[in-house]
Amino acid sequence: MIVTRQITEIRAQRWREPRLTWGLVPTMGALHQGHISLIRQAQDENDRTAVSIFVNPIQFNNPHDLKTYPVSLEKDLEILTKEKIDLLWIPAANDIYTGQFQTFVTVEQISKSLEGKSRPGHFKGVATIVAILFNVFQPDRAYFGEKDAQQLRVIRQMVDDMKYNLKIISCPTVREQDGLAVSSRNRNLSKSARKQAGCLFQALSAAHRAILDGERRAVRLKRFMKDSLHAYPLVKIDYISVADEQSLQEIGVIKNRTLLSLAVMIGKVRLIDNLMVDLKDI
Ligand code: PAF
Repeated sequence: MIVTRQITEIRAQRWREPRLTWGLVPTMGALHQGHISLIRQAQDENDRTAVSIFVNPIQFNNPHDLKTYPVSLEKDLEILTKEKIDLLWIPAANDIYTGQFQTFVTVEQISKSLEGKSRPGHFKGVATIVAILFNVFQPDRAYFGEKDAQQLRVIRQMVDDMKYNLKIISCPTVREQDGLAVSSRNRNLSKSARKQAGCLFQALSAAHRAILDGERRAVRLKRFMKDSLHAYPLVKIDYISVADEQSLQEIGVIKNRTLLSLAVMIGKVRLIDNLMVDLKDI
């Protein structure tokens, strides 16, 4: 595995053998099973696989969140060595955001709801860094987890709108035994918070069961999720949403593809999760 901070080195490696295909897995480090599943899919589908690790300051609207974001570079290096990736890019913040930096990418409508409403500026930060990673690396494919469904939707929109010549591949959410979606932030959960953290998946599953039983009204599905979360005293709800998968706008009655999603605080940690429901599959 080649490890570098240098943009020039990344470009040299990427184009050393132009006929080889490259998959890029952008991350913020603190790697977990979700990242490993992205890496393995990238390895299956490309001649070469690269990972980037960069805790992108401009996607954090809350300085405390940035300060407490887990970092574990040594452990990450161990994981990536074991996974036998080809190239690790750890950009330096001042190579990415140089003193004069003043160009940002904004994906308009779909960035405004859900996470965008709770975390103003978040998706502007995500779209900007992903655009920079794509511009430097020019991968054939880039891999993102379905756990961050709105992020995935925003990145797909950006790629379509800006005519990037690459494919976005999404991979299913990896879950712990109690349904908790694996996430770097889970490391910050206290013992008691961790015990309650399966509640997001429980709530989504309650809504899913109701859909299987024939319920189609969003207001009822939200009620099922809310009631399910009330059983957990450490949980404070940020939002519960039943939205159209494309527009990410709230809907009254669920249609073909609907995104059920929620964000909660458990103690000091903010967690999100979602379930995509396709009525065609029911
Ligand atoms: O999902 C993440 O880890 C980050 O938002 C990403 C896509 C690497 C951009 O910083």
